[in-house]
Amino acid sequence: MNDAARTLISKAMETAKPPVEFSAYAPSNIALSKYWGKRDAARNLPLNSSLSISLAEWGSHTTVRPSSDGRDHVSLNGETLSATSKFAIKALKFADLFRGGKDIPLVIDTRNTIPTAAGLASSASGFAALTRALCGAFGLDLSESEMSLIARIGSGSATRSFWHGFARWDKGEAEDGSDSFAQPLAYNWPEFRIAIVAVDVGPKSHSSRDGMNHTVATSPLFATWPDQAEADCKAIEQAVADQDFPVLGALAEANALAMHATMQAARPALSYLTSDSWAILERLWQARQDGLEAYATMDAGANVKLLFLQDSEVNVLSLFPEAQVIDPFGAL
Ligand code: ADP
Ligand code: DP6
Repeated sequence: MNDAARTLISKAMETAKPPVEFSAYAPSNIALSKYWGKRDAARNLPLNSSLSISLAEWGSHTTVRPSSDGRDHVSLNGETLSATSKFAIKALKFADLFRGGKDIPLVIDTRNTIPTAAGLASSASGFAALTRALCGAFGLDLSESEMSLIARIGSGSATRSFWHGFARWDKGEAEDGSDSFAQPLAYNWPEFRIAIVAVDVGPKSHSSRDGMNHTVATSPLFATWPDQAEADCKAIEQAVADQDFPVLGALAEANALAMHATMQAARPALSYLTSDSWAILERLWQARQDGLEAYATMDAGANVKLLFLQDSEVNVLSLFPEAQVIDPFGAL
């Protein structure tokens, strides 16, 4: 199987040095126009392009170093994971892309400043930070676009976690995935805010990957999704360029609800949103009728993210006192 990411890594690894300790950070990101559905599951090649905003200091800190006892070790938030845990297996399988069959035992020590597997995109920041840390540990001089292409093999949404601010993942056309990676959008929008309204920060019962695959395989509503999502992505990029917040917010909210509709039509139905999520949406919609300019987006989890501009922050917080506000451009 010809794979652009694997080819890129093996070429870079020809001149790699023995690994040294290296630490990296990647912010998580929330898609304003979602990645939902793959044309190739092995390479995480998407059916549609997507566009995201980063979450500043909410993300993953990952250190990779050579292991001194000849065995691999993975720890998450200070706790050593069993080598048979799904988390450790996935992280080590990703490291294998770099090791290329050689016996190079590694320690992977990662800390998430976001809840893990709760629909707050820990897989995005996790695989982006791991990619950066592995590249650093082996002394590979790769560009961020190249690292984005590699991180895709770990998790699709990780393509968009190499920058602060807006990023767009072009779905690409090539079978080997050589044109499917993200790039930053050169637009600063310092007033842009995103707030997390936590509903459930525990791990979800179905991973995004399983939910996505189940929806594509069984939902009769999925047929209309890829074209609509592509059109939404383009229109949201234009709204970012125009700094037209009401257009951006309305498109992002409609895109998220359309994605959730495809899941609800899956057989059997899949719903990440709970009655608490819907109660938040209803509160938001009522406030919007009363003049609040804020919109919502939801991923594969019950938590709701609010989108608004700085001048609405006081009103958003009086409506949702529990919301945690993030300033995506404050980290720049
Ligand atoms: P989320 O909504 O948090 O992205 P997912 O189910 O999509 O939830 O992904 C969670 C998975 O992402 C974890 O089970 C693990 O495989 C991976 N992951 C999360 N954090 C990290 C990390 N810091 N380093 C490596 N992999 C991670
Ligand atoms: C709903 O990137 O976690 O958050 O590529 O299978 O790892 P895999 O899926 P993942 O899916 C993210 C889905 C989403 C939408 C998005 O982030 O674009």
